[in-house]
Amino acid sequence: MSADRILDFLERADPPTPCLVLDVDVVRDRYRELSALFDKVSLYYAVKANPEPAVVRALVAAGSRFDVASPAEIELCLACGARPESLSYGNTIKKPADIAVAYAAGVRDFVFDAEEDLENLARHAPGSSVSVRILVDGPDSVTPFGRKFGCEPELALILLKRAAALGLDAAGVAFHVGSQQLDPRAWDAGIAAAAKIAAEVPVRRLNLGGGLGITYREHAPAPADYADAIFGSLRRHFPDGVPELLMEPGRALVAPAGLIRTEVVLVARKSTVDETRWVYLDVGRYNGLAETENEAIAYRLVPVGEQSAGTGPVIVAGPTCDGDDVLYQRTPYRLPLSLRGGDRLDILDAGAYTASYSSVAFNGIPPLRTYCLGTGVEDDG
Ligand SMILES: Cc1ncc(COP(=O)(O)O)c(C=O)c1O
Repeated sequence: MSADRILDFLERADPPTPCLVLDVDVVRDRYRELSALFDKVSLYYAVKANPEPAVVRALVAAGSRFDVASPAEIELCLACGARPESLSYGNTIKKPADIAVAYAAGVRDFVFDAEEDLENLARHAPGSSVSVRILVDGPDSVTPFGRKFGCEPELALILLKRAAALGLDAAGVAFHVGSQQLDPRAWDAGIAAAAKIAAEVPVRRLNLGGGLGITYREHAPAPADYADAIFGSLRRHFPDGVPELLMEPGRALVAPAGLIRTEVVLVARKSTVDETRWVYLDVGRYNGLAETENEAIAYRLVPVGEQSAGTGPVIVAGPTCDGDDVLYQRTPYRLPLSLRGGDRLDILDAGAYTASYSSVAFNGIPPLRTYCLGTGVEDDG
C-alpha cells in the first residue's frame, strides 16, 4: 500500500521536517483510474497542483495532457517530455509576451474570457484554437473562484463570434466548477450553458475543468459518482451527440499521493483555565498549508508513534511571526494530551496545492521540500 511505502521511507530516511513525500506511482494509478472512468475525455493535468518534475514525467508516460498557466509551466512540461500539442494554456490572465512565448514553444490551445486577451491571442498566437471560459452558477466548492474567471454566456457567444472573425479557431467552451467541488451535480449548469451556446455557434470542444474532490476530513464522492453525474448531464443537454471533451484534474490526481511530515515546535496554554492548547507546527500557511486559509481544507492530522490515549481540544498554528498563520481555530481538532515539542504529526492527502504554494523564505523558513518515491513510469510491484 502506498501510505505504507511513504511511512517506510520516513522510518528509514528520517528526513528533516517539514517535508512532503509523494508516491509518484499513486499519481499514475489515479490517472489510470480517472482515464478509465472518464472514457473518451482527454485529461489535462493541472500542473499548478503539483509541478514536481517526477509527477509531470510520470503523467507524460501515462499519456496525460497538461493544463498550464504560465511560460514557466510550459517550459517544465516540455523539459519533462510533453509535446507542445498536448498543452492547453488555461490561464485566462496572461500578458501578450506570455502568449508569444507559448506560441513560439508550439502551444496552440488557449482559454480566454476577455476581449482584450482575445485580441492579444489573435496577434501573438494567430490561428490558434481558443475556448471561452464561462461563469457558471451552481453550488460553491470548498475553495471557490468567485467571479474572477469566466464571463457570462451571452458575452461568451459574442466573443466566440469575434474569435472566428479574428482568424482564430473558435473551438468551444470551458468552465470550472471550483476546486474541491463536493457536489457532482455542479457540472450541470456549465454543461447546460454550453449547450445553449452550441445552439447558436459551433461548439466543437467542451472543457469541463477540474474540481473533482478528494476525501480530507470531510468525505468526498467517489470518482465514479462524479463521472455518472457528468455523463448524465452531457446526455441530457447534448442529446444529439457531445462535443470533444476535456477535463483538467489537479487535486484528484496528486492529493492522495502525498503526505506531509511535520514536527511540533511548541505546545502552549494561554491561561490557567482554558483547556484548549495551542499546537505550533513547523509547517504553516506560508510553507505548504496555504489551503488552510479560511480553514477551507481540513486535513487529517495523525500523531506519529506512541501517544497517550486521551486527547483534548487544540488550536493548530504555523511557525511564523504572522498572526494569520493559524491553521485551525474554528474547525474542531483534538490531539493527544501527551503531545510535546519534538513530536511528529503526519498530514494526510497533502500532495496537491502544498509545495507549489510554499513561499520562498518567509521568516527565513525555506519552502516545503519534496521527496518522490517511485517513478510512475513502470509497474515496479
Ligand atoms: C483552469 C484550471 N483548470 C484546472 C484546475 C485544477 O482544479 P482541481 O485541482 O480542482 O482539479 C484549476 C485550479 O485552480 C484551474 O484554475
